[in-house]
Amino acid sequence: MGTPAYVYDLDGLSAGARALEASFGAAPHLTAYAVKANTAGTIVRALAAAGTGADVVSGGELEVALGAGIAPRDIVMSGVGKTDAELDQAIGSDIYAVQVESVEELERLAARARAAGKRARLGLRVKPGVMIDSHAHVATGHDAAKFGIARSELGMAWERVDAHPELLGVGVSAHVGSMLRDVDPYLAAARVVLDVVKTRLASGRSLEYVDFGGGYGIDYGGAPAPAPPAFVTQALALLRAEGLDALRFVIEPGRSLVGPYGVLVARIVQTKQSEGRRWTMIDAGMNDLVRPALYGAKHRVELLHAAPAEPEWRVVGPVCESSDDFGAHPLGPAPSGLVAIRDAGAYGFVLASEYNGRALAAEVFVSGGAVTHVSASPGRSAWVKRRLEA
Ligand code: LLP
Repeated sequence: MGTPAYVYDLDGLSAGARALEASFGAAPHLTAYAVKANTAGTIVRALAAAGTGADVVSGGELEVALGAGIAPRDIVMSGVGKTDAELDQAIGSDIYAVQVESVEELERLAARARAAGKRARLGLRVKPGVMIDSHAHVATGHDAAKFGIARSELGMAWERVDAHPELLGVGVSAHVGSMLRDVDPYLAAARVVLDVVKTRLASGRSLEYVDFGGGYGIDYGGAPAPAPPAFVTQALALLRAEGLDALRFVIEPGRSLVGPYGVLVARIVQTKQSEGRRWTMIDAGMNDLVRPALYGAKHRVELLHAAPAEPEWRVVGPVCESSDDFGAHPLGPAPSGLVAIRDAGAYGFVLASEYNGRALAAEVFVSGGAVTHVSASPGRSAWVKRRLEA
């Protein structure tokens, strides 16, 4: 097999998605898979077959979701900077809801709906004012975040919704951030959303859905996280306690549906020992998996050809940056062979680049113990050609 390559376990991710779907019982719901976590058509189709819809944040992701066969009524669109063209696309596709993140966006949505001669369905994304214990780059629900509408401005936002006959306000959403290792911040945001919902309903208007976002963490080998169904069952209990369980309950999980079911396979290029330091150089780098460089993330790295052995060696990629470093792992003195970088199914390939003249990795999809599909690397010559033509 050519390396580096992402390898995905389709059976594992389908089983995970089915377990999450089952946790809703008979409750009306939508698992809007956050497509940004992994946009591979094979994966989006496998999750859709297990019952999920999609949360998209760009025109490109909307095309992937629709192209993978997801019904428009199972698609929501998030994002703080949707362009007019993207709003037109969302309106034209009749998606379930555009989740509006500012009053300014709301006005633009109304203008685009008017131009299209249609009524746009929208949800208001609330800024819940909840800080989470995660990397600052992925905390999105606190007051200084660019995301969502401040609670103090919601009254005005609803007034603007009601002032436009081209708009239909159907829901309220929030998303506190990513890599939650605890259900509490999720429930704290859910309570804020439900307060907003109750105020809206008390004004005599109706709503169709509530959306508490995604962000369920996974275990990268250090700290465990609650399984995704734990978030759903506790949020459902809250909805029931508030008598709001007739609303469609929307969630937006990304990482937890795909992260554990992908590995990045790389080849050891060489080892290097100097002044008591030990490095294992591999042919995957930060251009293939940027999470360690961007968030200080640590993914487990394991030898594929033998049991892991002490002592620890620092696993590094070939890119000319010191942040191209996957951390110390018990590989022993292995100068050749393959390694697997685990839990790379989410925010792996989608964040990859061609930095340092390195082609994007291949993607390999496995089901029933066999490779069912391969998306080949575009290869080095394609990169060289494009750069020479630029
Ligand atoms: N909904 C919204 C509005 C989001 O912004 C996100 C993720 C999700 C749902 C899905 O969150 P998840 O369930 O995957 O945690 N690249 C980072 C993560 C960025 C998350 C961006 N937004 C990482 O590799 O850790």
